[in-house]
Amino acid sequence: MTQAEEKLKVGLAAAELAEAGMTLGLGTGSTAGAFIEAVAKRKLDVRCVATSEATAAMAKRLGLNVVGLDAVAEIDLTVDGVDEVDKGLQAVKGGGGALMREKIVASLSKQVVYIGDSSKLVDVLGKFPLPVEVSAFAMPAIKRDLEAFGAKTTLRMANGKPFVSDEGHWILDAGFGEIPDPDEMDIFLNMTPGVVCHGLFIEMIDRMLIARGGRIEELTPPNR
Ligand code: A5P
Repeated sequence: MTQAEEKLKVGLAAAELAEAGMTLGLGTGSTAGAFIEAVAKRKLDVRCVATSEATAAMAKRLGLNVVGLDAVAEIDLTVDGVDEVDKGLQAVKGGGGALMREKIVASLSKQVVYIGDSSKLVDVLGKFPLPVEVSAFAMPAIKRDLEAFGAKTTLRMANGKPFVSDEGHWILDAGFGEIPDPDEMDIFLNMTPGVVCHGLFIEMIDRMLIARGGRIEELTPPNR
């Protein structure tokens, strides 16, 4: 089974978790897109909060009812993709640049189910460059801090200009190779002025569905 087929399979499996009457959090990226297409096909009466403008546009095009956080205090189920996840269910997200809204939506969700093809499960996080969303003003200082912490950094670009997130910030992609202590990195980044969000999702996942060939593997956090 190809990576694209695994994404479709896991998107379809996650769509079965949606129920009429739910408020759903819709992730961003190609795997979340497979979920959104599958859930739209089920024609359930659901409300949806999108994690990016791109996802909102896609969901509306497919006929889903997209609402803002003014209409919603709590989200029943969020389904989203990952860039990397380890067996402890710590993840790196933000390859699509939607990390800030993805983290906000996950934090408001009763159940967070992340989905991925088999390439996303890793032993140690860090091969995928960690997206760090920053204030443009602070970018040079944060770049120096990340490099002092051992990262090679790249300012994300789009069409020859810095990529601007839906929340209006720049993104530094920080290649560490390995992040042996994601908790320490989470604290360091949270304490760095000018970092508005980062792509480490620590203790946020309730269930992780991984498509491997024709099967769906389910992982749950070790301490819950
Ligand atoms: C979006 O900002 C990301 O967090 C995506 O969820 C992540 O990049 C996964 O993307 P794919 O499903 O396209 O691999």
